[in-house]
Amino acid sequence: MTAVLVVTRDEMLASRVQSIVEGWDHGSVLQVEISALSMGPQQLRLHDPVPAEPIEVLLLDGSNDLAAAIRFAAAAELQLQQVSVVLVAHSNPDVVLDAMRAGVRDVVPPDAEPGLLQAALERASRRVRTHPPRESDVSGAPRRHGAVIAVASPKGGVGKTTIATNLAIALGRVAPMSTVLVDLDAQFGDVGHALQLDAATSLSDAVTPAAKHDAIVLKTFLTEHAAGIYVLTAPKSPAAADAISAEDVGHLIEQLAREFAYVVIDTAPGLGEHALAALEHATEAVLVCALDVPSIRGLRSELSVLDELDLLRRRRRIAVNMADRYAGLSIKDVEATLATPVDVVVPRAREVAISTNKGVPLLQETQRGAAAKALNRLADLLLPDELRKTRKANHRREELVR
Ligand SMILES: Nc1ncnc2c1ncn2[C@@H]1O[C@H](COP(=O)(O)OP(=O)(O)O)[C@@H](O)[C@H]1O
Ligand SMILES: [Mg+2]
Repeated sequence: MTAVLVVTRDEMLASRVQSIVEGWDHGSVLQVEISALSMGPQQLRLHDPVPAEPIEVLLLDGSNDLAAAIRFAAAAELQLQQVSVVLVAHSNPDVVLDAMRAGVRDVVPPDAEPGLLQAALERASRRVRTHPPRESDVSGAPRRHGAVIAVASPKGGVGKTTIATNLAIALGRVAPMSTVLVDLDAQFGDVGHALQLDAATSLSDAVTPAAKHDAIVLKTFLTEHAAGIYVLTAPKSPAAADAISAEDVGHLIEQLAREFAYVVIDTAPGLGEHALAALEHATEAVLVCALDVPSIRGLRSELSVLDELDLLRRRRRIAVNMADRYAGLSIKDVEATLATPVDVVVPRAREVAISTNKGVPLLQETQRGAAAKALNRLADLLLPDELRKTRKANHRREELVR
């Protein structure tokens, strides 16, 4: 059941929402006068007849008093256990920025065609239902902690960035606007290029004291990508990476995990301090090697270091990338060398290389072809059991590359 609260004086808008939610098998609607905007959401819950379920989707009509709607959204974000806020307002970049700071997930123009409103409400409802529960809250209720997925490898050029960006796109479909991709290859990260983003802010901004102390400020330093995910790019200058400590990285990851369902982290090659901090705070690691001997040997050493540190022993996935039949190596050989099963094999494919050069991740454009299917399979393995398409054993052995 998703309880939707509409705060508006506009009967038309209220009945449009009503009929959308009636079409769901899991929704109920409560409408409230727009004067409610002068109160905080907490009072609203106390004084009004509320649905049996806690409010999960909040639709705020900002067409009369935008400032009040945004204040209300910010209060709702802090006070309600778990709520996904949609704002109805004429959008321009300033409105969107203010709304985002207040935790609004979607802005829909008042004159939007019905399909847009419906899509926004569905995204909001899906987001709430796929969001892991909070662990602790200001009210003492549990606060959520999202999944933190670190993509790492001992060597460069094996496909970490390709895998991280595609995972973020795939997980962003499951948790729209609740997935963030962080480029922790702080010196030479290229997530920005891989997603064709010209971000005005970066990792450097995200570890400033203002962002450290306030998740709302932190969110303003994230860049929104058209696929419905947020991105934190690497600093533009490699020198800026030195100023970012392992502690900064750990703090940032924990902050993001409280705000997002999925935090995907791309790392620099090797076990530098940033990559190690990411692995320490990760709930899952994707360790990547290419189908060549140096890469596989490198990964074997990395695995033994991680074992010594007792890091992520049971929560790691092994991905072999750029697999082809001309390598003279089989996946069995890889598994024998690593002494652990391989979870996913991504074939070498022209469309992957092209996608990098175009700045559009493969899974944003297609779900077809062996490479896209393998990347989707990897994303699927990282979902909680109840959302997974394939319920096979985690360590299902990938077939040999033909
Ligand atoms: N499966 C694949 N098939 C073909 N090219 C690939 C594949 N995976 C990655 N590449 C290409 O290899 C290059 C390096 O990949 P990248 O993801 O940047 O590696 P890393 O982040 O590990 O340095 C990119 O140009 C990318 O397009
Ligand atoms: Mg990379």
